[in-house]
Amino acid sequence: MSLGRVVVPRELLPAGLALLEDRCELVRGSLELTREEILALVAGADAVAPDLTVRVDDRFLDAAGPDLKVVANFAVGYDNIDLDACRGRGVAVTNTPDVLTNATAELALTLALSAARDLPAAERKLRAGEWQGWDPAEYRGFELAGSTVGIVGMGRIGSRFAELLAGFGVDLLYSSRRRKPQEEDRLGARRAGLEELLSKSDLVSLHLPASPENRHLINARTLALMKPTAILVNTGRGMLVDSVALAGALEAGRLGAAGLDVFEHEPEVAPELLAAPRTSLSPHIGSATYRARDLMSGLVARNVIAALSGEELLTRVV
Ligand code: GLV
Repeated sequence: MSLGRVVVPRELLPAGLALLEDRCELVRGSLELTREEILALVAGADAVAPDLTVRVDDRFLDAAGPDLKVVANFAVGYDNIDLDACRGRGVAVTNTPDVLTNATAELALTLALSAARDLPAAERKLRAGEWQGWDPAEYRGFELAGSTVGIVGMGRIGSRFAELLAGFGVDLLYSSRRRKPQEEDRLGARRAGLEELLSKSDLVSLHLPASPENRHLINARTLALMKPTAILVNTGRGMLVDSVALAGALEAGRLGAAGLDVFEHEPEVAPELLAAPRTSLSPHIGSATYRARDLMSGLVARNVIAALSGEELLTRVV
């Protein structure tokens, strides 16, 4: 017997679809659907499996109707979901933590190293056929070895990023609402206030969730605290950084470089950032490894099945 109607408004990978197909009435949308088409598709759903681009608000929940039991988000972040609205209707919410931690931390490191050496600009020049040969003065960047790295948000991903840095010989600072004694002991990280962290770090990596308090945490004022050679990496959410202020700081030489995987109004990228020098940019691919995306997709499906079978959810948010 079918466990119920499960709507995937956009896409879920085969690792998750295969689990759902056997046990549920599966309704699949596509990456091309408009908001209105998604709202029509979710009508009568017992479960929905949106991704981070699908806004789950009162309108969405109204459109889904009273049978909805779970919103199984295909992402660790859930800023696309109005949690209070779900709570108010008794709809559970799940996410996909842990399985993407390493992939995202590795991308943060990739962007940090790429930004430190301005790899995109060097590659652009090479591809344009403008490389004139080895030049001792050209494209000199920075080494992580011997630098101070500031990790803003020492949750799962921030802590894995700190672990990955272990071989680089860096001093680690972190800022976090709560002290993290384990990370302090294991990784030698020292807790600092945000202002101290920003002013002392050669590399600052953001690992915070999106929340109204965190909006534009990095802005003209906080950028001015950073070293003019510092590198800013953001693999968290675009709203953490004021893009125009960041682009201005890069343009004016008041910041060393930036490595960004997330943007304020995805999929749009502020033209100021596209034009800014010393930026390594990627299109929100933090969790985009075969391993992480398959595991995320499977976790979404297992949460749906658990919710519709009346079992305990694997990774409950609400
Ligand atoms: C990706 O950004 C996620 O939240 O999983």
